[in-house]
Parts: sequence; structure tokens; C-alpha cells
Amino acid sequence: MTARLVVFDAYGTLLDVDGAARAAAAEPGGEALARLWAPLASDWRRKQLEYTWLRTLMGAYADFDVVTADALDWAMEAHGLADVGLRDRLLALYRVLPAYGEARGVLEALKGAGIGRAILSNGSPGMLQAAVEAAGIAGSFDAVISVEAVGRYKPVRAVYDLVGAETGVAAGDVLFVSANGWDAAGAAAYGFRTLWVNRTAAPVERLPGRPAHVAADLTPVPELATQ
Ligand code: LAC
Repeated sequence: MTARLVVFDAYGTLLDVDGAARAAAAEPGGEALARLWAPLASDWRRKQLEYTWLRTLMGAYADFDVVTADALDWAMEAHGLADVGLRDRLLALYRVLPAYGEARGVLEALKGAGIGRAILSNGSPGMLQAAVEAAGIAGSFDAVISVEAVGRYKPVRAVYDLVGAETGVAAGDVLFVSANGWDAAGAAAYGFRTLWVNRTAAPVERLPGRPAHVAADLTPVPELATQ
């Protein structure tokens, strides 16, 4: 059934979360990151997600800017990096992450087909606004929804409830798109038809909820949305 609304995860799905460390390594003075940027980015991301889940379990929500900075502090210490200037630069670059190359064309195709577009993300409203503006896709969405109103992180069901609450579109009319396998599982278990964008050819998560579709990038989204 044709989707009325395609809901995208932001970080890792539309936005390349490795982009901050990669860009910092390429800047003058970034030599310390030449060999380190990829494992640093990976540990930063892993800790960031762990902290979202753990803070949710602990009932200790802090917004995604705080979680992102805490995770970077952990990852920099783990890699022996103690450079306040580099820390500030990485956090600044994280606010202006690049979008994946195919994202803009996919959003335009959906708009042309009359299908709604939204973001549902762990990101704070300020981070999301800065990110979509920097990526040149700010005008592409009918709604940009942050978990902030719920004060807990994905994959809590109350977060997925925000889609219906904010847009009025029923779960059965949504195509949910995430490159995070655990988010795809959460969304599928919730009742969204879900596409898992498996950019790294990772094994499927052994969790409740299996995505209906799997693709290597965002390119098939317009076609899937009209199926
Ligand atoms: C988000 C995280 C999952 O954007 O990347 O919600």
C-alpha cells in the first residue's frame, strides 16, 4: 500500500555520522587523527547510543547534545586524545554533518510524488535544525520530530507514538526508514512498515521486529513508498 508519509531517522540514515571525525582529520592540524579518525568515530557513535539506552533505563534523560559530548569525551580518552581544541572542533562539525549523496534526490522524488516526509530522531530540536540546514535539506520535511518531548530515547514505543501525534498519520500509512538496525527493529515491532538501510552489510539484529525491506542505501525509498 502506498505510504502517506516516509519517516526518516536522522543520524546514520540521512546524515553521515563519521563525517565529523573524517573532516577534522583532513583539516590543518588534524594529523593526530590521520590513522585514528575511523575508530574514534566508531567508538564515539557506539558510546553515544549506549548512553541513550542507559540514560533511558536510568530515568536520567539528558538531551542529545550532552550525550554526544559525553560520548566524545569517553572516546577521546580511550584513544589517548586530550586536546580541548580538537574536542570543540569535533562537536562543531557534528552539528553540520554531511547528508548522504542520495538523500536530496530521494526527498525531492517523494515530494514530487505527493508523499509526506518527516524526521524522527534522538537529536535535540536545535541539533536537528542546524543539521538539516547545513545539509541543504531544511525545506524537504513536513515535520522534524525530536524525542525531546518524550524525554526518553529510541526504541521506546512512546517515541514512535510521536509520529502519529505530530502528523496525524496512522502507523499503517507510514514507511519508516533507518540505517540503525536496532531502530529498524523497534519501528517494525511498533507497527511501521520499515526499510532498514544496511550500509555496512551487517547481520540483522536479533530483536523483536524484522524490517519488511532491506537496501544498501536510500535510493529505493521512492519506489518502496509507492508499493
Ligand atoms: C537518531 C539516531 C538513532 O537520529 O541516530 O535518532
